[in-house]
Amino acid sequence: MEYRELKPDNLYEASSLIWVIFSEFVAPGYSQVGIETFGKFIQPEELEKSLGSGRFFIMGCFDREKLVGVVLMRDFCHVSLLFVDKAYHRRGIAKELFTKAMKRCTQENPKLVEITVNSSLYAVEIYRRLGFEIEGNETTKDGITFVPMKMNIGLRLDEMNEFPSVFGSAVNSTETYRKFALYYDAYVRDFKKDIPLYLNFVREGENVLEVGCGTGRILKQLLDAGCYVTGVDISPDMLFIAREKLAKYISAGKLRILKHNLCIETIPEKFERVFVTFYTFNYLVSQCKRERFIQNIYDILEPSGIIIIDLLYPIAFSNPELDNKWTEKVLLINGYRIKLKDKRTMNGDIEERIQKYTDGNTVDEIITHRSFFTKSYIQEVLLKAGFKDIRFTDGYNIRGFHSLDSGEKEINSFVVIAVK
Ligand SMILES: C[S@@+](CC[C@H](N)C(=O)[O-])C[C@H]1O[C@@H](n2cnc3c(N)ncnc32)[C@H](O)[C@@H]1O
Repeated sequence: MEYRELKPDNLYEASSLIWVIFSEFVAPGYSQVGIETFGKFIQPEELEKSLGSGRFFIMGCFDREKLVGVVLMRDFCHVSLLFVDKAYHRRGIAKELFTKAMKRCTQENPKLVEITVNSSLYAVEIYRRLGFEIEGNETTKDGITFVPMKMNIGLRLDEMNEFPSVFGSAVNSTETYRKFALYYDAYVRDFKKDIPLYLNFVREGENVLEVGCGTGRILKQLLDAGCYVTGVDISPDMLFIAREKLAKYISAGKLRILKHNLCIETIPEKFERVFVTFYTFNYLVSQCKRERFIQNIYDILEPSGIIIIDLLYPIAFSNPELDNKWTEKVLLINGYRIKLKDKRTMNGDIEERIQKYTDGNTVDEIITHRSFFTKSYIQEVLLKAGFKDIRFTDGYNIRGFHSLDSGEKEINSFVVIAVK
């Protein structure tokens, strides 16, 4: 997919694309007057006038040379139109168009603090997922019914800036963050080895928190086991995908998905189980953040509540021949074959991982850093926070849980469980 600003030559194609999508999804909720008003606004010559005024710009998404999505922005602070071809829905194109448009808006208008949209009734949920909130009552003007919505940009940029502190010295952190979410889902989709372990420690009706829920791989399993589930993560991009995939559980009141960083603050609620899944803890490269993180989890657990943490044993420890070497595999993402080159290098107890995802001529590089922790270090941090009955198991072996043995060797990724 290629994203670029549209030129006058593209406006005829843009107008037709918008009209087709509008007719199917939005027009059924409009009066005849509203349909005509909208139809006039998107005529190619009207769009050209808008661009000529200098107050508007249009970004497009192209699949090869076919236009499949557009966003029209006004005054570098207002979304006038955002439409994606039906065949390309659920691929993150609307989000990507919006992100690119927002970037351009902040370049033109560095003091920008909020972005607005008058959403059709059909699109309210879509804008909500992009981070907008409802600002006013449903309104009808020139036959067009809309809901005013607003997003606080200052807040969003601040959120993005949290990333480097978590992923160490990742290069160009905001970009890394976004790309990681895009590919992550395809990368972990088939990983299921850890699921039985979590299911073994929950019962129907329990209040469970997953920290570092990512794109919702484990949330779904906990929901299907009948738990009330909260998923938190620091990455809005991961959460966006999780919300899209698990929307029906959110509407049913079974699931909440929140952007939250337990290194910074606690959650004003209690949980019976807190799971820190799939190496999330290894991304915390600063000692004081780790202690705060564990203490905050202790505080939000019910008495006798349980914490489970899944911890990484770097692959290069047991396979030195893989240290600093590239490996290759192919991933299938939305029907596209993406080549993944992967290299892990140990620097003391920090693993630097470089992943290069190649799609045609486009190469996305992602760099992450994860710390390795021994079992005795983890035990020490848990004891300091007040946890008791601390037990470890290698791999995801449910029957292997045991108290730490002083001569125990570190040979595997491991899971720790402890009780408040
Ligand atoms: C390897 S992914 C695991 C995702 C998911 N649990 C799974 O198993 O597929 C690690 C996740 O931890 C998140 N993360 C890193 N630091 C975090 C923090 N301090 N609080 C919450 N989430 C964090 C990252 O954004 C990422 O989504």
